Amino acid sequence: RRSSSLLALALLAGTQGQTATPTAVPTLPPPSALITAQPIGDSIFPALGQAGLDVLNYDLDLFVDRPGRSELRGTVVLTVTATQPLPVLSLDFLGPQVLDVRWEGLPAPYRHDQTAGKLTIQPPQPLRPGTLARVTVRFAGKAGVRPDPDLPIDVGWQAVPAQGDRVGANFTLSEPDGTRTFLPVNDHPSDPATFTTRVTVPAGYTAAASGVERAEVAAPDGGRTFTFEQAQPIPTYTLAIHVNQFERVDAAAVPVGVAGSDVLRRDYFPVGTQADTRAAYTSTGEILKVLAEWFGPYPFSAYGSAIVTPRVPALETATLSTMPVTSSNTRVLVHETAHQWFGDQLTLADWSEVWLNEGFATYAELLWAQAQGEAGEDIVRGWYARAGRSQTRPLVATSEAQLFDTTAYIRGALALHAVRVTVDDAAFKGYLRGWVAGFHNRPVTTADLLAYTRTRLGATAGAALRLWAESPELPPFPQR
Ligand code: ARG
Ligand code: ZN
Repeated sequence: RRSSSLLALALLAGTQGQTATPTAVPTLPPPSALITAQPIGDSIFPALGQAGLDVLNYDLDLFVDRPGRSELRGTVVLTVTATQPLPVLSLDFLGPQVLDVRWEGLPAPYRHDQTAGKLTIQPPQPLRPGTLARVTVRFAGKAGVRPDPDLPIDVGWQAVPAQGDRVGANFTLSEPDGTRTFLPVNDHPSDPATFTTRVTVPAGYTAAASGVERAEVAAPDGGRTFTFEQAQPIPTYTLAIHVNQFERVDAAAVPVGVAGSDVLRRDYFPVGTQADTRAAYTSTGEILKVLAEWFGPYPFSAYGSAIVTPRVPALETATLSTMPVTSSNTRVLVHETAHQWFGDQLTLADWSEVWLNEGFATYAELLWAQAQGEAGEDIVRGWYARAGRSQTRPLVATSEAQLFDTTAYIRGALALHAVRVTVDDAAFKGYLRGWVAGFHNRPVTTADLLAYTRTRLGATAGAALRLWAESPELPPFPQR
């Protein structure tokens, strides 16, 4: 009771930061109603997200006034619903200062705890299942910081300062939970959403984002506003936003979308990108065709890459893979393209299940090599040797340090190979296509894949996957 009235006070205090609109804030409900925001309960990141919250769409208006710096400002309208009554909304947000929060257009009390990374919002009445609400958050300032134990960089909003003849740039690199450094979100892959993203940039700059470009209009002082629509739901960490002096290169559409529809093709190269960096991307169309043959229709309306100059990991940002100059090769491009199905369309129920992304994306590297006429045995042998040299573990991760380790990628890929060698390639193709087709409407787990494997391919395949998923040791080399 005591802590709940403190929270009520804190919520009140938050509203006093609002200076922009002199509108009266609605009266607060009894304090007891304010204490029930439960996180999703991720086993690796227990504080992320809100249980029972379902964000359907983020409509984002972002202004990047000085590319290359970490400041940004914007307004986001979240269309939300709930799977259980929610007396408060609790969004993940480390990022810029909150200026103003509105619930269906009316000022709403809020509290922004930038240390905890939570923006708590008080609706006029609880959000109930079957009802929709539009929540508007206006923000401005420096992006939040989210260090990654695995990487020399912070994840989230990247600021690339001007250097030599290179202009300043910005981009998102958010896996696993960096989107909350610049946007209030339900930052968990189990709550994918659609996005409308408008980005306003200064003269000479181009913005690119996940989805199909819908408009490009003039903004003050020679700037431009670019609008992108991502009409299929994607996890928050897969949202791409890029600001740079880009050359956009369009290529022929590839008819591998749902029901044979065209997938638009565009890549974004920073002005001055070398020819050998660009060369890798001429294979994108062919990669889409080969992977769509194995996995089923490409899930989105556009695909391509945005090239970035810092040495960071490549990332499977939806419809627009984020590709460092240093990773501009076919193998990495195949890997990120495969993630469009595994990670972006099929989403994780829990971060401990990330091998379901990385194992399938790594396996795609073998499928591509074989489509180029290679036998691929050397690749599988190489994987097995690598797995043997590193510490192994069951596939479901138990710590943050394990998320992107050799087990997730290499043992994950070998587990799929262990399934493949129990059947013929036609059956294996049907298996991969059936996994994507049958499981993209709800977040997936290893238990789902095990059950699906048994029903689809039988006991031998099921037992093979189970051994590779669960054995503390590295299982024997998979052979027919
Ligand atoms: N999913 C990315 C890839 O394999 C790797 C991201 C690594 N992220 C990290 N926080 N360590 O394509
Ligand atoms: Zn990957």
